[in-house]
Amino acid sequence: MIFRSRKLFMFVKVATTDQVKPGRGFGAKLDKVFIGIYHVDGKYYAIDDVCPHMGGSLHHGFMNDCVVSCPLHMWEFDVKTGESVWPGSLSIPSYPVKVEGDDILVDVDSPQKQDE
Ligand code: FES
Repeated sequence: MIFRSRKLFMFVKVATTDQVKPGRGFGAKLDKVFIGIYHVDGKYYAIDDVCPHMGGSLHHGFMNDCVVSCPLHMWEFDVKTGESVWPGSLSIPSYPVKVEGDDILVDVDSPQKQDE
């Protein structure tokens, strides 16, 4: 019997490793959650893709090391944790990531937030 329920398999494929380049974000939608995937120093990270300021799509922003700047008004977030770097008030959730072969899998059912 094959189970395909997300409740049994919390990690879901969102991208392949060749789609997520260092220094650039990759956007994906899983159920109703928009996430940005990032490749920094050989590891992959997933954070919420919706900027808490006015909803900018963060994966379209500029990358500087592990910090992404929102393309609309330049708020900055650490892609490893979702922590707000500037202005430092509103963090966003990050999600567990694992890589299986060439597949990047994310568990959107287990968000982690720095300021909680
Ligand atoms: S919408 Fe992201 S900084 Fe304004």
